[in-house]
Amino acid sequence: MLTEKETCALIEFTNESFGLDLSENLKPIALSELNKFKKINRIRDLQDFLNKFKYELQDSKILDLLEIFLIPHTNFFRNNRQFDVLKSEVIPECLTLMEQKNIIDLRIWSAGCSTGEEAYSILVALMEYFGDEYWKTTCGVMATDISRKSLEIASKGIYETKKIDKLIRQRISEYTEEQTDGKLRFRENVRKEANFKELNLNSKTFPFKNKFHVIFCRNILIYFNKDSRLAAENKIFKSLLAGGFIFLGDAEVLSSKDHNFEQLGNGIYRKKI
Ligand SMILES: C[S@@+](CC[C@H](N)C(=O)[O-])C[C@H]1O[C@@H](n2cnc3c(N)ncnc32)[C@H](O)[C@@H]1O
Repeated sequence: MLTEKETCALIEFTNESFGLDLSENLKPIALSELNKFKKINRIRDLQDFLNKFKYELQDSKILDLLEIFLIPHTNFFRNNRQFDVLKSEVIPECLTLMEQKNIIDLRIWSAGCSTGEEAYSILVALMEYFGDEYWKTTCGVMATDISRKSLEIASKGIYETKKIDKLIRQRISEYTEEQTDGKLRFRENVRKEANFKELNLNSKTFPFKNKFHVIFCRNILIYFNKDSRLAAENKIFKSLLAGGFIFLGDAEVLSSKDHNFEQLGNGIYRKKI
């Protein structure tokens, strides 16, 4: 059992360090996982433990603790309509933004990519759009998440066939190969186009040198507290080129009214030029 003091310390810690609002989320399953975590790591008092690691957010023990609360749910071509818009409107508009018209350098970021399905869906959409010409462009996808467990799955690019809808299996078949165990693996040349990296969206700054044309940040900020959500939106805004696009979850809206965005559809915004 967690004491009330430990519960408060945990809620405060995840709020401040990772932006996550746990107050609604301490469900019995999480509590039982927490007790297991305490036992395995021989922790007597969770508050003391959290105080000790306050400034070591990348310590594997802290990230293991965090895994208990992360919600990795995702799918290939989740909110498929957004991928249609990506191909029909967003990529063509981004190409008109390129300074050197003869060189395509399209920068796309999947922020909170979970186990990689979103990043591979973006890649498949790009490859469908460009066809063989894709290999003459600099595209690819930067894909980040805080969960090491999810990123490991994403980098391997191996997925259970039976969990993938039949139509989607047909759509990705050109880009995957069946393994001897029946699972599907994205081909090496496709996997190489995704760059999976660990990143806490609640960190003070983002580590990117260049701005992005398109940022997917879908179904993540809904789990953030208000201040962290506003701060993350601000950093995302700064990471986006003028004229660039952001995709949120279908039912999500931007919280901040400070930024110069134009809404194009459900969860789709464009930073005004
Ligand atoms: C519900 S999944 C969404 C996956 C994908 N974007 C989609 O829409 O299908 C939420 C993801 O956000 C990640 N996440 C939660 N808090 C985060 C944080 N502070 N920094 C980075 N990623 C975070 C989780 O690890 C999880 O993979």
